Amino acid sequence: MFLSFEGIDGSGKSTQARRLAEHLRGQGREVVLTREPGGSEGAEEIRALVLRGDPGRWSPETELLLFNAARRDNLERTIRPALDRGAVVICDRYADSTRVYQGLTRHDLTAKVDALHDLMIGREPDATFLIDLDPAVALGRGIERGGPDLRFEAFGEDFQHRVRAGFLDLAARHDRIRRIDGTGTADAVFARVLDRLP
Ligand code: TYD
Repeated sequence: MFLSFEGIDGSGKSTQARRLAEHLRGQGREVVLTREPGGSEGAEEIRALVLRGDPGRWSPETELLLFNAARRDNLERTIRPALDRGAVVICDRYADSTRVYQGLTRHDLTAKVDALHDLMIGREPDATFLIDLDPAVALGRGIERGGPDLRFEAFGEDFQHRVRAGFLDLAARHDRIRRIDGTGTADAVFARVLDRLP
């Protein structure tokens, strides 16, 4: 089983991904928890390139190529081998992030995003949890968290509103994506996730 978590920055999806991994391990299942960009040695190096530095460091097109390079490496080295041996894979962000962040929010690159996905990735999760939260709440959480990987947070709150709308639109078009209300405590949100587990 291949599961992914999506949401705007600071939505709490990483916490939920971790909680689900612990929960399934508690049931005796092998779980590989991975994240994007990253999740393999090479992809973690690409992560530092795309998430650090100036907001204008990369054009949307260059960024799209870097995210695909990172995803391809994570897929080859971490995700596929784990699925092949029967493990559950939980990915903190996956291709829906690219569809929204690179596809919709800056230039309209949707056609290129879809073409590259078909050509180089070609694999969807069995189910995706979209942790949905108001950007005003989420952005506050993101800034509190700090750390060096904040290039996308630097695009600002209006950008996060576009990201949220993009995710909701994707969720409306794909049954695979389950919208989870991200308000309330981590426990409350996790109960909603468990409720929607395939
Ligand atoms: P992440 O580490 O999940 O950040 P956070 O924990 O703050 O949610 O993701 C880092 C950033 O990378 C996030 O702002 C979204 C961006 N991103 C893309 O733009 N495209 C992608 O394909 C992926 C996977 C992430």
